[in-house]
Amino acid sequence: MSLLDDLQWRYATKKMNGATVPKEKLDYILEAARMAPSSSGLQQYKVIVISDKALLEKIQALAYNQSQITDCSHLLVFVAWDGYTEERVSEVFNHMMDERGLPHSTMNDYKNTILNLYGPLGKEWQAHHAAKQSYISFGLAIAAAAEQKVDATPIEGFLPDKLDELLQLKGTGYKSTVLLPLGYRESENDWLVNMKKVRTPKEAFVTEMTLADAASLNELPAMGSLDNFAQK
Ligand SMILES: Cc1cc2nc3c(=O)[nH]c(=O)nc-3n(C[C@H](O)[C@H](O)[C@H](O)COP(=O)(O)O)c2cc1C
Repeated sequence: MSLLDDLQWRYATKKMNGATVPKEKLDYILEAARMAPSSSGLQQYKVIVISDKALLEKIQALAYNQSQITDCSHLLVFVAWDGYTEERVSEVFNHMMDERGLPHSTMNDYKNTILNLYGPLGKEWQAHHAAKQSYISFGLAIAAAAEQKVDATPIEGFLPDKLDELLQLKGTGYKSTVLLPLGYRESENDWLVNMKKVRTPKEAFVTEMTLADAASLNELPAMGSLDNFAQK
């Protein structure tokens, strides 16, 4: 099976049967999520795994009572930074330099560039930026689940502030962004299982452009270069 076959197989499962996803498959999906690229490699997000049925019932009440929340095997809750701080960004870069056997100062210029760029944009922008990164990880988890023949339902239909309260995220520096219940489809009771997968036609989805199609910007902004930061 190719990735495209797996993506055809998967769908946003509406009814799950409560069967358990084996640990190896769960670990595989989580590893795909962990390996996702992120802006500046900051990995501004993490994943909370919940299989406790009592807790899942509480979460379901905050997620428009969607049945997949309690009929899944494991619920992945993606959570992302609520903002960028010097301390957090330094911690990530210090870890990266330690792993690469380089002095902590190696990426200082780059780190300061990030902090100077993001700082003035405010916490709301920063939390949004971090949340966007978590969706890349979420997307890879969806693809990995499909490869493992594990069903997954992307879920944005929940009350994030309430969920943050329930999971005691307030004060941890993380906010919930998106949910991914993992489990197995209950085909006989799922209205979506045999529906045709519908997407924007390729011709409308993909646009090729050349310089002739582009606007002529008279003034280009003065920009520094991001090249070779690591050598400084
Ligand atoms: C970010 C995101 C949030 C979504 N939220 C929900 C949701 O709360 N409940 C649900 O049943 N489906 C949800 N979906 C599923 C989409 O409706 C579904 O992926 C889309 O219609 C395409 O269908 P397919 O995934 O079956 O191919 C969500 C999908 C994404 C990507």
